[in-house]
Amino acid sequence: QDFPSTWQPARRIITFMGLVSLICTLLVVVIIIIAVALSKTAHPRSTTLKPSELVYLVPQPRKFINRTPTIVVHRQNPRIWQKHVEDLSTLVKAYRERQGAIATSNCDLHYAPIGVSSCSFPLDRISENCSAQNNFGYDTGNPCVGLVFNAFAGWNPIPYNKSNPDDVPVEIRNGYDLQQIVPITCNTSVVVASGSSENASVFHVHYSPFSGFPYRYLPLRGMMGSTLPPLVMIQFIGGQSMADVEVNCFLWAKNLPRNATNDPGAIRFSFFIV
Ligand SMILES: *[C@@H]1O[C@H](CO)[C@@H](O)[C@H](O)[C@H]1NC(C)=O
Ligand SMILES: *[C@@H]1O[C@H](CO)[C@@H](O)[C@H](O)[C@H]1NC(C)=O
Ligand SMILES: *[C@@H]1O[C@H](CO)[C@@H](O)[C@H](O)[C@H]1NC(C)=O
Ligand SMILES: *[C@@H]1O[C@H](CO)[C@@H](O)[C@H](O)[C@H]1NC(C)=O
Ligand SMILES: *[C@@H]1O[C@H](CO)[C@@H](O)[C@H](O)[C@H]1NC(C)=O
Repeated sequence: QDFPSTWQPARRIITFMGLVSLICTLLVVVIIIIAVALSKTAHPRSTTLKPSELVYLVPQPRKFINRTPTIVVHRQNPRIWQKHVEDLSTLVKAYRERQGAIATSNCDLHYAPIGVSSCSFPLDRISENCSAQNNFGYDTGNPCVGLVFNAFAGWNPIPYNKSNPDDVPVEIRNGYDLQQIVPITCNTSVVVASGSSENASVFHVHYSPFSGFPYRYLPLRGMMGSTLPPLVMIQFIGGQSMADVEVNCFLWAKNLPRNATNDPGAIRFSFFIV
C-alpha cells in the first residue's frame, strides 16, 4: 500500500534489462561506425601495404611479367591516371584529417616548441605541383609519387657520423643535414624515350617538403602514435612525349648497408609515360 501501483520489481528489472541491451546495441553500432570511418580515412590502401617494407610507395605500381613494377602514366587517358591521382589525394587527405585530430603544434626541422608532444607534419610545404589541383603531374607526364615511412616495420634509423667523412657514403656527402634527416635519393635511368625535350634522357627529381625523412617526425623517437609518419612527395620532371624510365630510390642510414642482392633500403619501380 505504501508504494505506487506501478512499482513492481519484476517490471523494473525488465525495463532495466531493456535499457541495458539498448545501450549495448547503440555502443556496438557506434564502435562499428568509428571503425569504418577510421579504416576509410586513416589507412588508405591498407590492403596493398606490406608491413615488412620500410617505405610505402603511393600509388602502387602494377606488376607485369618480366618488368619492374610499373606506374603507367597515360596523359591522354584520364581514366588511367585519375586512379593514381585518387590514391595520392586519399593519402594527403588522410594526413590532413588525422593531423587535425592529433597534432598540437607546428615544428620545423630543427626546432619544436617546448612542451609540445606532437608536431604537425608540414603538408603545406609539399610542392604545389604535387597536389590534386595539378593532378599530381599525371596529366602532363611529370608524375609525383609519395613515399611514406613505415612506422610498423619497427626499424630505427641510425644517423651517419658526419664528423667522420669515411662513415658517410659518397652519394649523400653533400647537401644533407645528416643529423636531422634520413636522406632519400632517387635516380632515373631512361630506357626508351622520344619527344619534345632538348635532352630526352634526363629527368629532374624534386623532393618536398624535405629530401628525406626528418628524424624529428619519426614516430619511434619518443611518442609512438602521437605523430604521423613522415612523407616525401617526389616529382619526376621530364620533357619527353614518351618514355620508359627505371627509378631507383634509396633510403640512407648507417644501419642500412647497401646490398645488391637484398637491399631493404631500395625502392625500385618504373614509369611508362605515354
Ligand atoms: C612544376 O612542374 C613543372 C613542369 O610541369 C616544372 O617546370 C616546375 O619546375 C615544377 N616546379 C617545381 C617547384 O618543382
Ligand atoms: C665520429 O667520428 C669522429 C671522428 O672520427 C670520432 O672522433 C667520434 O668518436 C665519432 N662519433 C661517434 C658517435 O661514433
Ligand atoms: C645515380 O646515378 C649516378 C650516375 O649514374 C651515380 O653517380 C650516382 O651514384 C647514383 N646515385 C644513387 C643514389 O644511386
Ligand atoms: C644531355 O645532357 C647531358 C648532360 O646533362 C649532355 O652531356 C648531353 O650531350 C645531352 N644530350 C643531348 C642530346 O642534348
Ligand atoms: C646481402 O643479402 C644477402 C641475402 O639476404 C645476405 O646473404 C648477405 O649477407 C647480405 N650482405 C650484406 C653485406 O649485408
